[in-house]
Amino acid sequence: MKKQEKSLTMTVLMTPDMANFSGNVHGGSLLKLLDQVAYACAAKYCKNYVVTAALDQVFFKQQVHVGELVTFFAHVNHVGRSSMEIGVKVVAEDLRTDIKRHTTSCYFTMVAIDEQGKSIEVPRLQLETEAEKKHYAEAEVRKKFRQESLEKNRALSVELSEDEL
Ligand SMILES: CC(C)(COP(=O)(O)OP(=O)(O)OC[C@H]1O[C@@H](n2cnc3c(N)ncnc32)[C@H](O)[C@@H]1OP(=O)(O)O)[C@@H](O)C(=O)NCCC(=O)NCCS
Repeated sequence: MKKQEKSLTMTVLMTPDMANFSGNVHGGSLLKLLDQVAYACAAKYCKNYVVTAALDQVFFKQQVHVGELVTFFAHVNHVGRSSMEIGVKVVAEDLRTDIKRHTTSCYFTMVAIDEQGKSIEVPRLQLETEAEKKHYAEAEVRKKFRQESLEKNRALSVELSEDEL
């Protein structure tokens, strides 16, 4: 059986064009890179085009500085019929001191789609290690929470009239 490609690592140097008004890296710049790495990890795993369906609450624990080398560790934690949960851990490294800091972790839900934009089945996830089994079980709980939260939001949502937009 062919070995599944479940992990992907991407390293990017934080350059001045990524800075916000305080001179640190803009949250939006990091979000774009997070989305790219989640896309690449999911597409590489399922060998198909994927879209971002959801991103769990992202908490930027620490600021990322211009000049730091940031590594994004992405892994396929869970696979449903067409969706994949991709966990991404972000580590920023100060190149002068070698000090590494874990700045963010987050979870993307990526969905494989066909040319008509319809969700399509992805390969089942082969759980080979105890760590993978643990990640899978945890992701399953998060998927349940996500579905519950979606249902609650649907129940709460009211159509906004044009003058409220
Ligand atoms: C993601 C998308 C394909 C899902 O379409 P859909 O009609 O809900 O499709 P399905 O009902 O077949 O669901 C497909 C999967 O997506 C999951 N899903 C759908 N909406 C979701 C959400 N809001 N959060 C998490 N997962 C979601 C479903 O649980 C299902 O998972 P499973 O197949 O593993 O069980 C569709 O909403 C879409 O194209 N969205 C736009 C994506 C995009 O443009 N992203 C980039 C802009 S930020």
